[in-house]
Amino acid sequence: MLVHAVTAHLTYEFAADVRAGLTKPGQKELLSKYLYDDVGSALFEVICHLPEYGLTRADERLLRRHAGDIVERLATPIAIAELGSGSGKKTRQILESFCRRQHTRYYPIEISRAALAMCERELSDIDSVSILGFEREYLDGLLEVAAQRKTGQHLLVLFLGSTIGNFDRMAGLKFLNQVRRILQPGDSLLLGTDLEKPAAQLLAAYDDELGVTAAFNLNLLARINRELDGDFDLAHFEHVARINHQGRSVEMHLRSMRHQTVKIPGADLAVEFLEDETIWTESSHKYSPEDILQMARTAGFRCDIQWIDDQWPFAENLLIAV
Ligand code: AVJ
Repeated sequence: MLVHAVTAHLTYEFAADVRAGLTKPGQKELLSKYLYDDVGSALFEVICHLPEYGLTRADERLLRRHAGDIVERLATPIAIAELGSGSGKKTRQILESFCRRQHTRYYPIEISRAALAMCERELSDIDSVSILGFEREYLDGLLEVAAQRKTGQHLLVLFLGSTIGNFDRMAGLKFLNQVRRILQPGDSLLLGTDLEKPAAQLLAAYDDELGVTAAFNLNLLARINRELDGDFDLAHFEHVARINHQGRSVEMHLRSMRHQTVKIPGADLAVEFLEDETIWTESSHKYSPEDILQMARTAGFRCDIQWIDDQWPFAENLLIAV
């Protein structure tokens, strides 16, 4: 019963957000969180294996290489929460390292029920771990985790994969502030951030030769067709990746290849697209190593250590709440 209630509510929210984004004056937009339905999440997993997209491999390399250091730097006892655990694959190294030292509670926080279930399955074979997942938005989930903490227990929050890059700079800083307010001094945040790199490398990473990222982006229109009964003709939209030099980000757009009108009954909507008009679907902000130190400081953290991958510019930042 509850499942039906939750689903109905989410469809309603999706419809409302699609309506707001596609009727916006000026640049039309769709929120990037809607890229990740079951099809989109599976396509993202494929993106992580593409030669052009080194981000996830860099993140995993750094975690593998420094899991032991991270454990040594953090006081015991500790519980671990993860914002957007995904499949949990990246988390294994860290979790195993902590569990070797002590029994560890792990709280994945994830809005995708399928991803949460996969994560629990993937990690449950680790010795001395107990896993309690929360199907929640990040901050709501983190509040619940914080409420479970025992006195004297520290919390380590994992926010990996440069998910923070989907926020613009102001919103990213605000989010770090909100996380900080839920934490106590001495708690920590392990933050993965993709770094600035040459334009050609960025464009290839977000517009791969095989067309997987294009499919990932176009799936958002297919999802609107599936869930809101839309009639987007996918042959008349094209994936575009572009650099926003001012925002220091890569943007994904869907470009209308002709003048057309699309009906979306589930959102009570008909939308006109001019030829070459785009829908903005995602931004991925890129940082300098110093950007992160400054953001951390402004949000009430000190950076204990920053590791940078030697193959793909990406930083793993261990931040301590002050
Ligand atoms: C999961 C948000 C980190 O921005 O690089 C990958 C998503 N979009 N290819 C990113 C994504 C296009 C990814 N994040």
